[in-house]
Amino acid sequence: MLLRIAAILTLLVSGTPAAHAQKGGPDRPWWKSAIVYQIYPRSFKDSDGDGIGDLKGIISRLDYIKSLGVTAVWLNPIYSSPNDDNGYDVSDYRNIMKDFGSMEDFDALLKGLHTRGIKLVMDLVVNHSSDEHVWFRQSRSARNNPYRNYYHWWNAENGRPPYRYSLFDINHDAWMYDSLTNAYYLHYFSRKQPDLNWENPQLRKEVYDIMRFWADKGIDGFRLDAFQFAAKDTTFPAFPKGFEKNFTLFYAMQGNLHGYLQEMNRDVLRKYDVMSVAEGAGNSFEDAHNLVDADRMELNMAYPFDGVDIPKLNGYSLLHFKEVFSRWDSAFEENGWLSVFLANHDQARMVSRFGNDHPAFRQLSSKMLSTFIMTMRGTPYYYYGDELGMTNAGLDKIEDYKDVATLNEYRHLHNSGKDVKEFMKSARFGARDNGRTPFQWDATPQAGFTSGTPWIKVNPNYITINAAAQENDPNSCLNYFRRLVSLRKDNPILVFGKYTLLDRRNPNAYAYTRTLDNKKILVLLNFTNKPAIPNTGIHLNKAKLLLCNYPTSIHTSTLRPYEAAIYELP
Ligand code: GLC
Repeated sequence: MLLRIAAILTLLVSGTPAAHAQKGGPDRPWWKSAIVYQIYPRSFKDSDGDGIGDLKGIISRLDYIKSLGVTAVWLNPIYSSPNDDNGYDVSDYRNIMKDFGSMEDFDALLKGLHTRGIKLVMDLVVNHSSDEHVWFRQSRSARNNPYRNYYHWWNAENGRPPYRYSLFDINHDAWMYDSLTNAYYLHYFSRKQPDLNWENPQLRKEVYDIMRFWADKGIDGFRLDAFQFAAKDTTFPAFPKGFEKNFTLFYAMQGNLHGYLQEMNRDVLRKYDVMSVAEGAGNSFEDAHNLVDADRMELNMAYPFDGVDIPKLNGYSLLHFKEVFSRWDSAFEENGWLSVFLANHDQARMVSRFGNDHPAFRQLSSKMLSTFIMTMRGTPYYYYGDELGMTNAGLDKIEDYKDVATLNEYRHLHNSGKDVKEFMKSARFGARDNGRTPFQWDATPQAGFTSGTPWIKVNPNYITINAAAQENDPNSCLNYFRRLVSLRKDNPILVFGKYTLLDRRNPNAYAYTRTLDNKKILVLLNFTNKPAIPNTGIHLNKAKLLLCNYPTSIHTSTLRPYEAAIYELP
């Protein structure tokens, strides 16, 4: 009986756009083989001299993006926004931020990408909106306003609400008192980012309408920002003291979150050929599987933070790195799908955190890390500028930082009388602005990013690290990245093949194989600035070298500093 129902369901589903999404076979939809290039629009290319990157700027560089070989672009939010959090505070979900251009520019961008065979994934920021969104302006105007329940309010006559931690608030307090209606509203992020009330079916319907608006325009996917926090227990029970040290245990995957995602999938996602990816993957493998396993009919994939969170100011251990990535891989070997990434707009630069940005090793270690990303199972998300080996910004003064998270944390520490020196040190290493400096196009003033004054300082190393200089150098990071991308595209084994870790206890070298059908690929990576010898038990004499990050290959199992080599095994 069950089988019959399944057969009928399959029949019903075939022929719909969702079935079309399965092009390449049910286990090989396009988004598994996609190579996603993330663009932070504010910092990619400015076309009008106001110092802020924009859509026309991206359009002017579409051929560059195409030349990378990537198959999809993820754009950080481009919707109308007062920019308290650089677009992650949306004031109109159906319009384009003035700094970035117009809807005509957007349409031209989408068309330009599609003409080049590149898909477009948009950020969907609906755990919260801007406080300048008309919904919030209505909501806060009166307790009986029809929009009141689009947000979470706590009436002050009931006393102070139970403490909730805010990531970006100066006082870390997620409840903001509003005297207009004598009530507090909830904001997990900044005060200008009030949390939307997903428990309200009307709000959910509005969000699905917005998603349809963009999907009807022809976009190819949604990245669900902070969505794991969207569902809440609206009785707001007290949480144990100190919960904020591990707040995701209390914030992520609460209440009816999965119900909402199933509804979103039913009402929107499965009706279009769009992919969906969740920021965050809950608190356990079980949480992550519940988000992305195909039979759940929720989302396609998620990106867990365990990997990207590894580096600390005083370094990190490769053993830990290997353990984390291997554990996640094996938990998703049979079901579900994940992303692979080492950087995004919420992180400092990949080469400065995971590699070695000293001039002697910057290029090698950056290429080595790119090799890792492009040879792992999962969908790679690659951050703009990493293809050049762009480094941390080296910002020393708090005035040079622009990010609400860094600025408010600084104020928080300063106001509580704490020494901010340590904080500035850690910001230099890990603050998000490190990864948000303008793309380094060439050696002309402001790295060719703008003819005006950039919204955030250009990294002074643009004189030597820039795309123009790398374009004609066959050994540049840029050209190595292109070779890696084409290798992945030519070898489905790198996307779908089984991953096996070798020489697990080697603290310096990372070695693994990928296997599919009768094919086997070996990846060797040296994570140190000294020679390293992975003990794989594999003889390389008959192996075919597919790619190496040194200009000359030596075909031995002793790896040179930060060497990366990919072999096909007989
Ligand atoms: C996500 C975004 C981050 C933003 C936050 C609030 O974590 O990636 O940039 O600040 O959500 O929207």
